[in-house]
Amino acid sequence: MLKAKITGTGSYVPDKLLTNKDLVRIVDTSEEWILERTGIRERHIAAKDQTTSDLAVEAARQALKAAGVKAKDLDLIIVGTCTPDMFLPSTACMVQLKLNAKNAAAFDLNAACSGFLYGLSVASGYMSSGAFKKILVIGAETLSRFTDWQDRSTCILFGDGAGAVVLEATTGSNALLYTHIKSDAEYWDYIQIPGGAAKEPATRAVVDKRLTKIRMKGNETFKVAVKTLENLVVETLEKCDLKPSQLSLLIPHQANLRIIQATAKRLGLPMDKVMLNLERYGNTSAASIPIALDESVRTGRVREGDYILLEAFGAGLTWASALVKW
Ligand code: COA
Repeated sequence: MLKAKITGTGSYVPDKLLTNKDLVRIVDTSEEWILERTGIRERHIAAKDQTTSDLAVEAARQALKAAGVKAKDLDLIIVGTCTPDMFLPSTACMVQLKLNAKNAAAFDLNAACSGFLYGLSVASGYMSSGAFKKILVIGAETLSRFTDWQDRSTCILFGDGAGAVVLEATTGSNALLYTHIKSDAEYWDYIQIPGGAAKEPATRAVVDKRLTKIRMKGNETFKVAVKTLENLVVETLEKCDLKPSQLSLLIPHQANLRIIQATAKRLGLPMDKVMLNLERYGNTSAASIPIALDESVRTGRVREGDYILLEAFGAGLTWASALVKW
């Protein structure tokens, strides 16, 4: 059976930095509180004229170059995002246009912070069915556009960025071995942007009430995330018949250092086997895992034959995991 192999990775973050020190000037908080409670020191913010597809294209170009694949040879482009350029057309279509990937199908996928891993899962299905042979999966966000800069409990968390992978069909065993996706909408209101869409169109009143911005029940989300991810990583390894000691690297969604530490602890995994970069980027939602993966590849933390576990958790609530043999 054909499997999906990651043959190239890429990532991009905008130049502008927003540090914890900068945030102290905006909301009632302290540099120490943010670092201690989240693990974040700074995040990158898109320039006024940059949209999600602009960030996505930068990451995609790198991934295509690394894979040695031409944009015109892509069969499919999937963009995991909850902060699209606009409602219509999809951000994936804008990426197709900018890359001139004439022969691809393109669509967006919204599973919030789990969007990239949902994208990998969909792509792997197309690969194994034989429908597509070269797929670009991107996670890209401009969360800063939807951040409530008056809400100290959320505005400290988010950053902008994009990461991408090129997947190619293979009959070999170094490939994406397993993906798992799941949702539980019982907690749909834990993380939301309630206004600006069909339910609450963007009237002046809706905008003034800041309903077009992200709202989160942070502490409640934290508790479900820890419990869910602890079970998820154990179950994923069991499904793949692997012991935690066989893992070379865990690449978690970069939301909160304490959540990541709890997940690693559940596996008995030392923190030096965990990829961390949220200190520099904050929570970039669907972009966080492909950015961290690209960084791991480019810094030599991933070598041929390594088993790598990816996991994410986000609004929906949604969660997902993937096991890759590099
Ligand atoms: N600076 C200082 N104090 C702050 C603050 C800030 N930026 N933000 C919140 N606080 C205060 C709260 O007002 C509260 O004060 P009170 O006790 O007087 O009411 C106190 O800190 C504790 O708030 P709480 O929300 O319980 O903090 P927490 O330890 O849960 O940390 C988050 C908050 C958001 C960092 C944490 O809950 C989190 O990371 N949640 C999960 C996020 C996530 O994984 N999302 C899913 C993927 S997007």
